[in-house]
Amino acid sequence: MERVLSGVQPTGNVHLGNYLGAIKQFVELQHQADCYFCVVNLHALTIPRDPAELREKTLELAALYLAVGLDPDKVTLFVQSQVRAHSEAGWLLQCVARMGELNRMVQFKEKSKGADSVVTGLYTYPVLQAADILLYQASRVPVGEDQKQHLELTRELAERFNRDYGEVFTIPEPMIGKVGARIMGLDQPEKKMSKSAESAFNYISLLDDPKTIEKKLKRAVTDSENEIRYDPETKPGVSNLLVIYSLLTDTPITRLEEKYAGSGYGALKNDLIEVTVDHLTPIQQKYQEIRKSAELMQILKQGAEKASQVAEDTLHKMKEAMGVI
Ligand code: TYM
Repeated sequence: MERVLSGVQPTGNVHLGNYLGAIKQFVELQHQADCYFCVVNLHALTIPRDPAELREKTLELAALYLAVGLDPDKVTLFVQSQVRAHSEAGWLLQCVARMGELNRMVQFKEKSKGADSVVTGLYTYPVLQAADILLYQASRVPVGEDQKQHLELTRELAERFNRDYGEVFTIPEPMIGKVGARIMGLDQPEKKMSKSAESAFNYISLLDDPKTIEKKLKRAVTDSENEIRYDPETKPGVSNLLVIYSLLTDTPITRLEEKYAGSGYGALKNDLIEVTVDHLTPIQQKYQEIRKSAELMQILKQGAEKASQVAEDTLHKMKEAMGVI
């Protein structure tokens, strides 16, 4: 059976971009592949964090994975730091990666821009991500478009390792959806929706209550026309609302354009508020149950044990190939 791996950082608020770009695919893939999904808390250390908050956010994200419908009997859910092989393989791959290729990483450039000093982990971040993927011999990696460059680097490192040390790794393919791979910010639809956005009006968190969802969608930036049409170039705000609506309801965008022909933006926004609240309410109810239950820790413990078996096997092959005893 095909192997799939992906991860989400436990930082900020998990939002509709993360959900529609990545996590919703995880839920669909669990029926078709041998899936490993992790909470990448070691990656979260690359920006200074409050330790108590990081701990809390790690469990919050694990509970959200379950609340959106991932079934622990079908998929392996785990926390990255609980599988030691990730850190070790990350180091081994740092000795394969080149500074030149890390210098080209757009995410590093963006995150380090204007900072007085940055930790080295922010620079080597994509190498740890490559370790996450390669340790599981994953052939497919469901992610949003912003991870494309990191996936290209992962493939490059795997190919170089296989060439220099012998065949150890499966070369992974990114799985980037045609629609939803780049959900835009509600307040700034020219830029992607982001967990680290300055304003909470940028995103809808999966845990936002109905009143907050209503306020945020009502304030979503549109344009000065009054035509509901999908055209990301000239109408980024309206197009983004159509994409979100389409993915939440599994309705083609062309059908939505027909439905709202002649209607104003207010009508579209009101319906989208209802659709979003209806979609998120059951997720939030399930989240509250799971977050409080002792079962969560048990699921993560079992997940880490299962993930460790696979990861240790690959790590062993890497060390053998590199001559590290
Ligand atoms: P992270 O935590 O920033 O985002 C998690 C997933 O959400 C996707 N995403 C989006 N998709 C559509 N529209 C958006 N506005 C949007 N914002 C985020 C991301 O592409 C991602 O798929 N480096 C990764 C975490 C990671 C990882 C891995 C991913 C670590 N190791 C191994 C895959 C495999 C990250 O920061 O994702």
